Amino acid sequence: MTARRLPPSADPIEPGEAGALSILVDGRPLDGLRGQTIAGVLLASGELAWRRTSVAGAPRGLFCGIGVCFDCIVTVNGERDIRACQRRAVDGDLVEIQHDELPELPGLPELPANGGARS
Ligand code: FES
Repeated sequence: MTARRLPPSADPIEPGEAGALSILVDGRPLDGLRGQTIAGVLLASGELAWRRTSVAGAPRGLFCGIGVCFDCIVTVNGERDIRACQRRAVDGDLVEIQHDELPELPGLPELPANGGARS
């Protein structure tokens, strides 16, 4: 066993009915398991992207999964800019998707229509 593996007893996910939870995401109830992150609940519910505010307008959701990129931010119980990949879901959490417009950043060059992607 490598140092990165956890024994099953250390897994924070609690499968089964005892670990069941429900959160509201923009008013929609989503079921999850205690120990899952909010991103985990969203992904398990089939939501692969929940924001539409990248510079190029591409959908954003889970990118790094380790709390570095901030692509997954949501509002949780009124608290903005929570990284969904880092916050464990709690039964009854009220999650709102942040649909903010990007701020104007003067001095930056215009992006090409394809966001700079290579063809
Ligand atoms: S996915 Fe990168 S911070 Fe959450």
